[in-house]
Amino acid sequence: MEHHRHFLLVTFPAQGQINPSLQFAKRLISTGVRVTFANTVSAQRRMSNTSSVPHGLTFAPFSDGYDDGLKPNVDNIEHFMSEFQRRGSETLTDLVLDQSNKASPITCIVYTPLLTWAADVARKLHLPSALLFIQPATVFDVYYYYFNGYSDLIANRSDPSSSIDLPGLLPLTCRDLPSFFLPSNTYAFALKGFKEQLEALEKETKPQVLVNTFDALEPQGLKAVQKLNLVAIGPLIPSAYLDGKDPSDKSFGADLFKGSKDYIEWLNSKPNSSVVYVSFGSIAELPKRQMEAIANGLLQSRRPFLWVIRRPENEAESEENKILDRLEELNEEGLIVPWCSQVEVLSHASMGCFVTHCGWNSTLESLVTGVPVVAFPQWTDQPTNAKLIQDVWKTGIRVRANEEDEGIVESEELVRCLEMVMEGESAEEMRKNAKHWKDLATEAAKDGGSSDKNLRAFVDEMERERECYRIVCNE
Ligand code: UDX
Repeated sequence: MEHHRHFLLVTFPAQGQINPSLQFAKRLISTGVRVTFANTVSAQRRMSNTSSVPHGLTFAPFSDGYDDGLKPNVDNIEHFMSEFQRRGSETLTDLVLDQSNKASPITCIVYTPLLTWAADVARKLHLPSALLFIQPATVFDVYYYYFNGYSDLIANRSDPSSSIDLPGLLPLTCRDLPSFFLPSNTYAFALKGFKEQLEALEKETKPQVLVNTFDALEPQGLKAVQKLNLVAIGPLIPSAYLDGKDPSDKSFGADLFKGSKDYIEWLNSKPNSSVVYVSFGSIAELPKRQMEAIANGLLQSRRPFLWVIRRPENEAESEENKILDRLEELNEEGLIVPWCSQVEVLSHASMGCFVTHCGWNSTLESLVTGVPVVAFPQWTDQPTNAKLIQDVWKTGIRVRANEEDEGIVESEELVRCLEMVMEGESAEEMRKNAKHWKDLATEAAKDGGSSDKNLRAFVDEMERERECYRIVCNE
């Protein structure tokens, strides 16, 4: 296939951003676009086992100065962000200039949140650019409103249980807001980053915001902010689990940890719809007391479970002993792994429900595979995602934390939620709803579906903008 359109894609080196970005690259390629994926050395290492790189995709790894990866509780995040920006801007500039006289010059830059500097590079080099937002449209809207007249309503609340009514969105309370708005937020850089991002978008004549969602999933969220055109191009999930167009597209191609036990064989030995899958994504670290409460809840609920407990790559297996007191019993009832291929697990016939932190990728994966959820949010967008799961899509139930005990979710609460999701009328209803969203997701992704059309229209629009830049530059 001849690729005269050539997009440069740059992403933050975190699993929750790399996975959808890689899928996005594959989608672009299927429309005839060539993609250069600029990524940090640490992120690239996670992808080094990528079995098959599609024709038309090139990786351009660069060093951000943190080649062994960012260590959240050790490294200074502000320093990391500024180094990433400095070295990333240089790399992107060099890549564009280097390609400019070759057969396939770069024609557009797409970047994920907090990388506003990528849009600056595009502007300087007279290229169109677009933001790929890897959280739901609703969350984008909440950030937008916060920086556009609603900061008091959102953040300065005397009554935390009162309703926050933002135009075009479902009513929220404090409990449903992204954690960066709470007084307990320790990530000041994140809010600052979103502010800069929105300011940069508003400076553009035709700002482009692509969102990893689909039209039927968030009809209001996609339309709430009229000033910015949010375009749904998701769900960005491997094709084999979504539309089946490419059965070989089975993984994201990016794995944080390798060498998990043979969990698929274990799942094969379990009855249909019986297994509780527990995972808190690639970042969250739960306190020991919370881990023990989950362990006790799982043992009390007496269902087979597959539990992902991440561990540093070089840490010995015996270290799990330090994490959990009742490890022996847990290993009898369930299986604990350091990492798994999550979409593959969720697609397995034995899946009963997913106890999830509600990261946006995990949320979409639960919808696409039709698996009901126990929503157990931790931070950032996850509380809002949990709200949508419970009250809008109705595919799960959200745990209640014990506020008098440091916000711990007690084992009895987990048992209660597991029962609601796994048994009786409530479970049946959630399974039915999950199947409904699964069907709509498949519909959106297929050829001629809403996301497919939106993506093709976006690629054409970028081509038109590129032409305009060319004409202006040559005048
Ligand atoms: C981060 C933020 O924490 C999240 O709130 C935001 O929405 C996206 O960025 P993360 O916490 O890693 O993401 O969660 P999530 O968005 O769910 O992404 C995790 C990805 O890792 C998913 O694609 C999931 O399939 C994958 N995964 C996770 C595995 O493949 N195996 C595992 O064992 C665990």
